[in-house]
Order: sequence, then structure tokens, then C-alpha cells
Amino acid sequence: MTEKKEYEFGVIGMAVMGRNLALNMTDHGIRVAVYNRSSEPTETAVKLSGGKLHGTSSLVELVSSLGRPRKILLMIKAGEAIDAVMEQLAPLLDAGDIVIDGGNSWYEDTRRREKNYLSAGIKFFGVGVSGGVDGARHGPSLMPGGDRTAYQALKPVFEAIAARTESGPCVTYVGPDGAGHFVKMVHNGIEYADMQFIAEAYHLLKDVAGLNPDKLEDVFNEWNLGPLESFLIEITAKIFAVKDPESGGYLVDQILDSAEQKGTGLWTARVALEQGVAIPSIIAAIDARALSSRKAERVRASRLLPGPKLTRHMGDTRKLIQQIHDALLASKVVAYAQGLSLIGTLSSRNAWGIDLGEIARIWKGGCIIRARLLDLVTQAYDRDNALPNLLLDAGIREVIESRQVAWREVVCLAQTHGIPVPAMASGLAYYDSYRCAELPQNLIQAQRDAFGAHTYRRKDDGSGKVIHTEWLD
Ligand code: 6PG
Repeated sequence: MTEKKEYEFGVIGMAVMGRNLALNMTDHGIRVAVYNRSSEPTETAVKLSGGKLHGTSSLVELVSSLGRPRKILLMIKAGEAIDAVMEQLAPLLDAGDIVIDGGNSWYEDTRRREKNYLSAGIKFFGVGVSGGVDGARHGPSLMPGGDRTAYQALKPVFEAIAARTESGPCVTYVGPDGAGHFVKMVHNGIEYADMQFIAEAYHLLKDVAGLNPDKLEDVFNEWNLGPLESFLIEITAKIFAVKDPESGGYLVDQILDSAEQKGTGLWTARVALEQGVAIPSIIAAIDARALSSRKAERVRASRLLPGPKLTRHMGDTRKLIQQIHDALLASKVVAYAQGLSLIGTLSSRNAWGIDLGEIARIWKGGCIIRARLLDLVTQAYDRDNALPNLLLDAGIREVIESRQVAWREVVCLAQTHGIPVPAMASGLAYYDSYRCAELPQNLIQAQRDAFGAHTYRRKDDGSGKVIHTEWLD
């Protein structure tokens, strides 16, 4: 009898995300071989696994330890490093083997990489992995894109390591080529919007309602018991509880108000602008980070630019907190609508066949934007999987209907007090634009035709015939 030394999965890259995914696999009885360019991270991973992970010291050794079809997950820095490792792997692999990129890669790169491997018959998967280091270790949300048939070989492992909710594992076959990385990119765009809404609510609660972090912790904990229940609300409550050992005050108050970004939000905005899909809340969130990073300029402007004098809200604080809650909830729903409309549009243009209800389902656990509200999104697509926009669904309409007065009041209040709420306000403008049967863009068409003879179409002529008028004679 020959000893069975074939490993079922290979993981390249033993930084914390790769290591945690490999450890997660071993927890589920999957035999994993690992490799890292430098040996120390491999040794640490093997040690942490209690010897269950099989450490290898070269790509050749890694590849030869794997059973067929070989399944190799790359958890290395997105960009050129992926191309370099794929090139080194290619001569070592056979047709039918599967290489998976689990990083935050640009989806067009994923499409190109899949095509490059095609002639050798090697399958390439771009898999969105969300949930940070903890998610990777104990259950991420996974968004795999690639060859549907090859997915069958990955499915048992992905379903074993993914987070689980009452509706099953937080993974589904998303679609071919770049679909997985595309969906992860939009997930991150929604994440940006969600975080910005929370920051705007915090700004109002702090400066208008006058709450300190102690009280903010209570408010966010309470919100997390209701329809806003989500990972981001939960961690926000916890953040408010952390004290600064140096000043003795709250740590959040000591953090420089200058937000950074790695680029997935920007990619989302770029695609949306290029494809003509409106995602204003997501773009507002990116702009807010950009503006926040100009700290020195803002400090100067704060002394020079007039605005309303900041005053505390004199009315009922509990009522104001509830209104901010409602504005946050309505804004959040609209950001889902924007993100999903972007996914839906690209899915039809690329014939990806993405099931939006399934996407909401796999975002319900493991990932950064996991939230109770996503159940309503899944239900909306269960009712109609060809829904052109989430806002048209009856259940979603109900969520907004009962909160829109508060949403409008909060945006007005913010404007009156000079508190910026760019994401909440642009979400509201999106909502109002979308529900407007008559927009003023007839005037824009007239202007374009007047100065540039760009032509226009008449409302009363369904044929689409274009007309030019000499407006300025
Ligand atoms: C996730 C996160 C993860 C990462 C963000 C951070 O889903 O687990 O989205 O991918 O933490 O990309 O993005 P920024 O640095 O751009 O805020």
C-alpha cells in the first residue's frame, strides 16, 4: 500500500490572510500544503497549525505535493506579484488544475489572467474574500468567479470554510471570469458608503445632540438590536468604549480625522462613471475620505470660511436620535440599491448571469457589510429576480416610506447646522431623482442643442427621431 501524501489544497502567501485561510481549512479536515517566498512565515503557520499544515520550500515542492486537479490559492499582494507567480506556476501545472486569486484584484486583470491560462487548459478563479483577518480564520464571505464546471471542485472546500447563516454557507458561484472580483469590489464600495453614513450619524450625534462616546456606545448598542443590526454598527459601539491610556479620555477622540483608502472604492466609482450607473452615496463616501485627508487646508479654512454658528439641538434628544437612526437606515438601503444596480448592469453587459438575491444572501454573514437588512434584499429578488432597481420592491419601499420624513429632517437639520452629510444627502437626492417622472434634463438637452447643435428628441415622438433647433437666432 502506498502512503497517501497528496494534499487537497495549496496556499501560496503566508501573511496573515493566507495563513488564516489555510488554518481555517485544516479546522475542516482539509489537507493543506503551504508556501511562502521567505521561509519564516511558513514555519510560523505550520507551528500554529500544530503540524497539520504541510510546509514546502519551493513552488515545485508545493505543486508536486498536491492531488489532481491541483487547487492553489494565491494570497499575495494584488498586482504584478500575481502575474509573476502565475507565470512561474504555469509550466508546473497541467490542464484542469485550478489557480485562485483571493486578493482584492482589479476585475479586468482577473479577466485577462483567466484568458492567459486558457490555452494551457489551466482554470483561473478570482475570488473575493471578505471579513478581514478574523473572517479568514473563522468564516469569510466568499465571492468566486471563474469556470462554472471547475467550481464543482472548489465548492466543498469553499462551503466548509465560509461563514454560515440560517440560509447556508456564505458562498455561491458568482459567475464567469471577473464576476467574483467585480462583486467584491462593489461590496467594498458599499462598505465605504456604510462607513460614511455611520460617520455622518456620529458627527450629528456628537455635535448636534451633544453625546459623548460613553452615550454613543449605548446608542449604537441599542441600534444593533434593531433593523440596523450589522457588523459595522456593532464594532462602532465597541470603538466608543475604548479608552486612551495616554490621555485617559476616549481613544476615538485622539485619532487624526484623515481617512485613508486602498483603492477598491475608487475602482467602483470609476466603473460606475464609465458605465453610466449612478452610485452617488458611494462616490460621496470616497470624496469625503479625500477631503478629510486635506487636514491642514481644512484647519485653515475653518478659521476663514463662514457658516452657521454650531448650536446644540434644543428639542427632544431621544427623538433626534431616532430620526438619525431612520436616516441611517434609509440611506443604507439606497446604497444597496446603487451597488446592486451596478452589479446588475455589468452582469447583463458581460452576460455574467449574477443572481443578485444570492449575492445579498452571501453578504449576510462573514463580510464587512453583513447586516440584518440584507434579508429584505434577498426577499426582494426572490419576489422578482429581474428587478431593475431594489427601490421598486414593495418590502424595500416600506422600509423607506416610514423613515423618509425623518431622513429629510435630518438632512435639513445637518444643512442648517453646517454639518456635512454628503452620503446621506446624496442618497436622498438619488431617491428623489429616481422617483421623479419629470426631471429637468429637458433643459440640459435644449442647452446642448443651443450651443453645440447636439440635437434632442421630443416627448411626443416615440420614434426617437433627433431634432435640431436654431435656438439663438
Ligand atoms: C473586506 C474589506 C477588506 C479591506 C478593505 C479596506 O471585505 O474584508 O473590504 O477587503 O479591509 O479593502 O479598504 P480601504 O483600505 O480602501 O478602506
